[in-house]
Amino acid sequence: MTFSETHPPAGRDTLQIRDERPGDIPDIGRIITEAMRFLPQASGTEAAIVARLRAADALMLSLVAEAEGVPVGHLAVSAARIGGQDGWGLIGPLAVTPERHRQGIGSALMAEALRRLRPICRGAALVGNPAYYRRFGFRAWPGLTVAGCPPEVVLALPFGGAAPEGELIHHPAFGLHQPG
Ligand SMILES: CC(C)(COP(=O)(O)OP(=O)(O)OC[C@H]1O[C@@H](n2cnc3c(N)ncnc32)[C@H](O)[C@@H]1OP(=O)(O)O)[C@@H](O)C(=O)NCCC(=O)NCCS
Repeated sequence: MTFSETHPPAGRDTLQIRDERPGDIPDIGRIITEAMRFLPQASGTEAAIVARLRAADALMLSLVAEAEGVPVGHLAVSAARIGGQDGWGLIGPLAVTPERHRQGIGSALMAEALRRLRPICRGAALVGNPAYYRRFGFRAWPGLTVAGCPPEVVLALPFGGAAPEGELIHHPAFGLHQPG
C-alpha cells in the first residue's frame, strides 16, 4: 500500500509520515541508535532488532517521519500474539531524533500506525513507559505479561473484543526467547 500523509507543521516544517523506502535504511538505524541513548533501559540492540525484522520480512509497518526531506523518526510494527491469540500489532521500537523531541513527531508516528492497524488487527501492544503511551490509549491489563518485564510496562490497546490476557509473544527477532 502506498500512503503518505502530511501532518500539521512541527514548528515551521512540514512533517510527513510515510512508509520506509530502501534508501532510508541507514537513517533508520542511526535515528534508533541516537534516540535509544536517551532511554536508560534501552538494550542498545533496538536498531539490530529492526534490521532482523526487515530481513525476516516481518515488518508489518515501518513508518518514517520526514521533516523537510530529512528522516527524523521511525516506528516499527510486527505481528504478535497474546495468550495464544494471533492478530496483535506489536509497536516498537519508536524513535525520534533527539534534537526533534517534543515536537509531536512521536505522536504523529503513533497516530498513523494506529490508523493503519485498526482495520487489520485485534489491537496494538507494546512494552514501554505508561506515562508516555497512556496518551494514545495504551494501558496495562490484569494477566498481560512478558516474562522478565514488570507488568506495568506491558501495555495494550484493544480495538474491541475481549480484554488482552496472557503472555505477549514478540517476533523472535526481539531475542526474548519466548515460547513459540
Ligand atoms: C519517546 C519518544 C519517541 C517521544 O517522541 P516525541 O516526538 O518527543 O514525542 P511527542 O512530541 O509526540 O510527545 C512529547 C510528549 O511526550 C512526553 N514524553 C516523551 N518521552 C516521555 C517519556 N519517556 N515518559 C513520559 N513522557 C514522555 C513529553 O514530555 C511530551 O509531553 P507534553 O506534550 O505533555 O509536553 C522520543 O522521546 C524518543 O525517541 N525517546 C527515546 C527512545 C524512546 O524512549 N522510545 C520509546 C520506547 S521504545
